Amino acid sequence: MTATPGSASAAQDDRVNSQVCVIIPAAGSGTRLGESIPKAFVDLHGRTILERCVDQVLDLDAHVVVVVPADLVGRARLLLPPHVEVVAGGAHRSTSVRAGLAAAGDAGIILVHDAARPLTPAGVFRRVIDAIRAGHRAVIPGIPVADTLKQIEQLDTDLARVTTTVDRDLLRAIQTPQGFTREALVAAHADDEGLATDDAGLAERIGIPVHVVEGHPMAMKITTPWDLRVIRQILDSGEVVT
Ligand code: C5P
Repeated sequence: MTATPGSASAAQDDRVNSQVCVIIPAAGSGTRLGESIPKAFVDLHGRTILERCVDQVLDLDAHVVVVVPADLVGRARLLLPPHVEVVAGGAHRSTSVRAGLAAAGDAGIILVHDAARPLTPAGVFRRVIDAIRAGHRAVIPGIPVADTLKQIEQLDTDLARVTTTVDRDLLRAIQTPQGFTREALVAAHADDEGLATDDAGLAERIGIPVHVVEGHPMAMKITTPWDLRVIRQILDSGEVVT
């Protein structure tokens, strides 16, 4: 059978095997968090953000590759279980993802998951993996948007004017892990110039269909000190979803 690019059968034909590799880019500086150490190494009640993130994927039967700043490779190896591979990242998120991809072995399904989302439930990973196994080439988790969204035109630094209101029912806030067949992720990154912050965006750009499965509020991303406070309060409450 000849597979049509983008069809489910194309995904199945292109996939070398159904082994899973989870790449965790954790090499960012996390400047917006305002801490003196890189974000992934910030403490969350006795364990680093990175350790908590890795905890969430340990039951998945996946090869795990963590990408950290070059000077913290040794520290990460000490913190993480021995079977978790640790490699040095690059100056941009996408160069870090490619460093992880180089260490991904021959896994046919590759998930890219930001270390900055340390409480992501295992169920979100499973939904992404299942959808790839069902034949899709690129699958991302998303959640409905609660706020009303308006497009604006910036008039000056502190005033904008609404140009249109967007139909939020058709929008999703996208999280990670973002999952791909190996061929789709390699192709998506092939001509990236280093500035992409979203792997699925790279796939879309070259015409790979991207499918959305249900995400989870607990997959929230830590960017600002406020996010860190929220995550610490969730841990305090004991209401973590595994
Ligand atoms: O900066 P931001 O939080 O958007 O980064 C998303 C993820 O990408 C984080 O987990 C961060 O550590 C990672 N990253 C990376 N290498 C970079 C920049 C960001 O691994 N050079």
